[in-house]
Amino acid sequence: MNAEPTGLLSGDARAGAPAAPPAPLHTPLCDLLGCRYPIVQTAMGWVAGPQLVAATTRAGGFGFLAGATIAADRIEADIVKVRELTDDRPFGLNFHFFQPNAQQLLDLAVKHRIRAVSYGRGPDKKVIGRLREAGIVCMPTVGALKHAQKAIELGANVITVQGGEGGGHTGSVPTTVLLPQVVDAVQVPVVAAGGFYDGRGLVAALAYGAQGIAMGTRFLMTTDSGVPAATLERYVKARDAEKIRISHLVDGMPQRMLDNEYLQMLEKASGLKRLRIAIGSALQWKAQTGMTLGHAGAVLLKALREDPASVAQTVMAANAPVLLERSMVEGRPSEGVMSSGQVAAVIGQLQSCSEVIGGIVAGAEQRLQALHRLGNPA
Ligand SMILES: Cc1cc2nc3c(=O)[nH]c(=O)nc-3n(C[C@H](O)[C@H](O)[C@H](O)COP(=O)(O)O)c2cc1C
Repeated sequence: MNAEPTGLLSGDARAGAPAAPPAPLHTPLCDLLGCRYPIVQTAMGWVAGPQLVAATTRAGGFGFLAGATIAADRIEADIVKVRELTDDRPFGLNFHFFQPNAQQLLDLAVKHRIRAVSYGRGPDKKVIGRLREAGIVCMPTVGALKHAQKAIELGANVITVQGGEGGGHTGSVPTTVLLPQVVDAVQVPVVAAGGFYDGRGLVAALAYGAQGIAMGTRFLMTTDSGVPAATLERYVKARDAEKIRISHLVDGMPQRMLDNEYLQMLEKASGLKRLRIAIGSALQWKAQTGMTLGHAGAVLLKALREDPASVAQTVMAANAPVLLERSMVEGRPSEGVMSSGQVAAVIGQLQSCSEVIGGIVAGAEQRLQALHRLGNPA
């Protein structure tokens, strides 16, 4: 059973905690990550760059830099930039174990004493051991109980649990089922993700036994994300949660995104056309990342050896970053994909990170007071 998140309704104060906000919203996760509020901005390809991470971090949250889509020759400069923009406050780095420069990111995480790394499948005990030895919090995102258990076995010391309503690659179990399931099964701090955007959600997550919330879509839909206006407009206009749906057609894995012309085209396309798109993406990604044929071959061979069923996913893997870049960087939302959580349907406006975090904290405090009044009627 996971430890209590700290005096959620009792308001106990922890002596010596740095710049602690009113006690109920200060959980041990804040001390572990070195942030003021238990609010995490997750990594999002092409979106979570230095500006967004710095804006989140300055507002008292904890931001993750999306290392999988930052060019190898820029990543160190971006790490330094976040440091400069935040007066050296702690932040995190996300990486994909299978990206060509994964080793570079690991070395940089250690060199720059990055506070936490987030990842999905991939890193083994040795890699995680090296990071833990360097004092780095290892914080994978999982979408199923068995993945949480496996991640802890490999050395993770915080688990982000993403329910199926979350954006990007996602599982099928909703947050309200998966979160208590994982909280009850593990001993490490759990962070709740998938569908969070306001103070009510934060209080609910803490009540479930999580130590904080992590959000992608809510931070994408801010004035700090740097996402082009044409693309943000699609997010703001998305009011139907059913149309923020899951497809396997981008990279063979379930991925939640806004419905758009491109997704509908993919669904109607022949297998041959989809193969052509995947090969085009692979060639573009190879050129952008400087991936050698040797690395591409090794990844394919590994897939063949470990799970032949995953070969199609490996061939399609580059679709995700290439098609996301069109929307998130080039501002061509009808020609690419727009990863999104269903929560976009209830976020009707763009705010700054500071307004988002301030609003969540104020909203959470109001909910806690309302709950208190409910239990103590005058
Ligand atoms: C546009 C977008 C890009 C994403 N890219 C990544 C990524 O590169 N790496 C990753 O681990 N997760 C990625 N995700 C998933 C998010 O980090 C996060 O887990 C998810 O958005 C949480 O659910 P929410 O959107 O309901 O808050 C992405 C999500 C979105 C919306």
